[in-house]
Amino acid sequence: MAKFDISIIGLGYVGLVTGSAFAKKGYSVICADVIEEKVQTLNSGRSPIYEPGLDELVKELVEEGKLSATNFVSKAVADSDITFICVGTPSEPDGSVDLKFITSAAEDVGKALSEKQEYHLVVVKSTVVPLTTEETIIPIIEKHSGKKAGEGFGICMNPEFLREGNAVYDSMTPDRIVIGELDDKSGEMLLKYYEDFDVPKLRTDLRTAEMIKYAANTFLATKITYANEMANICTKLGIDVYEVMKGVGSDARINPEFLNAGCGFGGSCFPKDLQALKFVAESKGYEPLLLNSVLLLNDNQYFKLIEMAESMIDGLQDKRVAVLGLSFKPNTDDVRETRALPLIKGLLEKGAVVVAYDPKGIENFKELVGDRFIKMGYSVTRLIYADDVESALRNADVCIIQSDWDEFKNLGMDQFNLMKKPAVIDGRRTFSDPTKLIECGLKYKGIGWKD
Ligand code: UGA
Repeated sequence: MAKFDISIIGLGYVGLVTGSAFAKKGYSVICADVIEEKVQTLNSGRSPIYEPGLDELVKELVEEGKLSATNFVSKAVADSDITFICVGTPSEPDGSVDLKFITSAAEDVGKALSEKQEYHLVVVKSTVVPLTTEETIIPIIEKHSGKKAGEGFGICMNPEFLREGNAVYDSMTPDRIVIGELDDKSGEMLLKYYEDFDVPKLRTDLRTAEMIKYAANTFLATKITYANEMANICTKLGIDVYEVMKGVGSDARINPEFLNAGCGFGGSCFPKDLQALKFVAESKGYEPLLLNSVLLLNDNQYFKLIEMAESMIDGLQDKRVAVLGLSFKPNTDDVRETRALPLIKGLLEKGAVVVAYDPKGIENFKELVGDRFIKMGYSVTRLIYADDVESALRNADVCIIQSDWDEFKNLGMDQFNLMKKPAVIDGRRTFSDPTKLIECGLKYKGIGWKD
């Protein structure tokens, strides 16, 4: 009998949330990560990442002895029956996927399996482009374990569809579970672990499972971009795009999800995954026109906010601009590919002074910015960070909302009156009914708002 039911490699969003979901279902889970600090934090009953509901869940599971962490991948693998590989797959500058963490995890798993007699199932949960499991991961495990896939160990590819900010809920109640399997034995074994998840399960081969993940993210990013394009047209015509999308999304073939127009998608997934699929398509001699257009439109969408601000307050030179929201979306401190970065860069280029605020993401944003604006010649006094929303708004000429945290949804004239003149550019349709604020004297423009 193995000491633990499940081992997880990688204590990022996917690894920790997946591990917690299995532990909550009653399995004993050991998570392995090379970063000592993450391991210590988890073992002390706290979540090493910010995610709503995760701290409480981790505390409960660690106290119950269902969830723990180690620095030793080999030990975690040796002491369990099944290993989920959940390490990051960042982008290379050319858009291809950087596989260094995956290959190193596969090597560690292979080495651990060389010492093991019992059959072991390896599940790839990291997002990898089609054929990676077959052509890269399996050969590495085979080389280091001295065993053949399908004989000494099984392999599945099990893509993850959770959203940051909703990760706990998504992992406990996914819409579906996709199991890509090397063979029937691998698929059957993984299916058993998901027995208590009462959701549709789709079994397929390894490369199809890998492609489902990319195809799903591409569709969602395209849906958002479609809504953004409609928004830009609606603004020109004096039509509220949110009203339009209510009508469009109520068609069951379309559905209302991911039709919220705004200043573009960010995050660690959509931009990177679309780039990676584009790279794969091009490397096979196919020009992905749709992917190219989605990426191009998304790259330009933030600029609509700058244009609106310029026209509202008659230029931005030496104007004080409050930017609310630095993370790539609400309820996360994650700033990867946040639209706040090109937005603030664009504002500085227009000569504005930026006062930035975010409920959770300021520290990560500061790290992301580093000295890039200073190197571009902007003095530190052109980008200031505020401790709270009121300080950001005080004396500002205009406020731009980049992500719609609840804290911003509740803003009213009391706060906007702190500005020189209340003026808001809304990048996310933060207020359910902006007309009420407009009637109280707020100058308001927003993506897809009837002008
Ligand atoms: C996305 C997918 O939604 C998940 O299913 C997937 O598992 C994940 O990528 C991944 O591949 O790991 P995530 O990046 O966490 O999840 O966040 P989303 O909620 O999808 O938002 C992505 C971006 O799209 C954000 O910048 C958000 O503001 C933007 N968005 C989303 C819109 O502009 N409009 C919408 O209607 C929805």
